Amino acid sequence: MLSDQTIAIVKSTAPILQEHGETLTKHFYKRMFSHNPEVAPYFNPANQAAGLQQKALAGAICAYAANIDNLEMLGGAVELIAQKHVSLQIKPEHYPIVGENLLASIREILGEGATDEVVNAWAEAYGFLADIMIGRDKQIYSEHVAMPGGWEGFKSFRVASKEKESDVITSFYLVPTDGSALPKFKPGQYITVRVQTADGSTTMRNYSLSDKSGQSWFRISVKRETGLQAEAPDGFVSNYLHHEVNVGSTLEIAAPCGEFFLDLTEKHERPLVLLAAGVGITPVFSMLLSALEAMPERQIIFIHGSLNEASQAFKKTIDQLSVQHANLSVHYRYSDPIATDITPGGNVDTGFIDAALIESKVPQRDADYFFCGPQPFMVSIYRELLTWGIPASQVHFEFFGPRQDLETPLENMKAQMKCPFDSAGNRIS
Ligand SMILES: Cc1cc2nc3c(=O)[nH]c(=O)nc-3n(C[C@H](O)[C@H](O)[C@H](O)COP(=O)(O)OP(=O)(O)OC[C@H]3O[C@@H](n4cnc5c(N)ncnc54)[C@H](O)[C@@H]3O)c2cc1C
Ligand code: HEM
Repeated sequence: MLSDQTIAIVKSTAPILQEHGETLTKHFYKRMFSHNPEVAPYFNPANQAAGLQQKALAGAICAYAANIDNLEMLGGAVELIAQKHVSLQIKPEHYPIVGENLLASIREILGEGATDEVVNAWAEAYGFLADIMIGRDKQIYSEHVAMPGGWEGFKSFRVASKEKESDVITSFYLVPTDGSALPKFKPGQYITVRVQTADGSTTMRNYSLSDKSGQSWFRISVKRETGLQAEAPDGFVSNYLHHEVNVGSTLEIAAPCGEFFLDLTEKHERPLVLLAAGVGITPVFSMLLSALEAMPERQIIFIHGSLNEASQAFKKTIDQLSVQHANLSVHYRYSDPIATDITPGGNVDTGFIDAALIESKVPQRDADYFFCGPQPFMVSIYRELLTWGIPASQVHFEFFGPRQDLETPLENMKAQMKCPFDSAGNRIS
């Protein structure tokens, strides 16, 4: 256990972290990649360039400082981080590297404010949190190995089939090269793909499994990312997959992870509402396929927002499912449709998914909500569900990157690096 003195010092530094959080974590990553380049391949360079990982880490440190005497508050955060760490094969020996660089960064950024007393308290607090994380990581690795067909590390998979789902999304059907069985996964979980980079290193990306569990393949469905700004490069791994990976190619894959999943063992009377925007459909489509099989009585509302029909994945299959399953209702909304995309009286209309649409499609607000898509889509839905008073246990979402803030007003988002807690651990935003 942490001493009372350590708890008091760490809590008292929460406002300082709030002030310096982003500067501290930016400095930390720069320092760590320079002193310990061996850990750089674990991190996604685009998330670093966008500042998302720095924000996620600063938010986690800050929440930890504020809740150090009330650690149950962090349970959900620990699970999210542990699943992400295991997906990327973070091991116990990496934690001292992060700890050393973090403590050195606290000294370097806080200057005189980083007294020996403060640094020692943080060293103890980091060690305590690291032990919690390492413990949970270890359990997840063991669960993976214990599962029939499970494995730890990276395993070779062969591309058995490559299918275009839309103008921008292509599916890859992956089977173990050694012919072994596949482990079961929970609908909504993701695998990790590791590929070689031009400089001889490697880089990893997570991809949600878009089919249901129990098939003889893992299916991922990947959007080809193009650099939107003039200076931004095209997405490295997605373009590699689209252009270089074909039937017969092999890929290195780490086992399914993730805490965003539909629990098929839970039986609820409440409707199930599945919401997706763009390629955010992948985990939600896996949930849909699984729920139709496991919960034939349950009312399911599925809403997908896309640019237009040409960019939309899985439409044909979903249309067929909605004809076959009386408990499923489907709606599509296109933000940039072409004339032939919309037929009067059909289940397609124009715009973005919003509260009014959801309200008009759900029989009652009291439902289980699962959603995935870009940040503005997630923010608007999350806020609306809060306003409706939907309990947190019925609200589930996935970011295709480090988790971002859903509660700060959109207009402040770019500027935000605010700790959502005061030094007493109370939520202030
Ligand atoms: C849990 C999870 C599940 C996911 N599931 C899916 C899925 O099912 N399907 C799917 O398609 N994706 C999914 N993703 C996203 C996926 O992991 C990748 O992030 C995505 O494919 C882009 O990777 P990339 O290597 O192609 O692009 P990256 O090279 O990582 O680039 C991403 C973006 O950043 C820009 N960028 C890169 N470097 C810089 C730079 N230095 N400066 C400025 N801009 C830069 C690029 O232009 C591009 O727009 C998921 C992510 C997570 C975390
Ligand atoms: C107690 C210590 C740690 C804490 C509190 C922590 C916290 C976090 C958080 C908050 C995220 C973002 C999760 C998300 O929203 O997806 C994350 C992701 C990550 N962490 Fe940690 N972490 C710790 C230790 C480590 C260690 C030791 C390593 C290994 C070097 C590591 C490597 C990573 C990587 C590679 C990611 C994903 C980054 C990306 O998406 O680019 N972390 N961690």
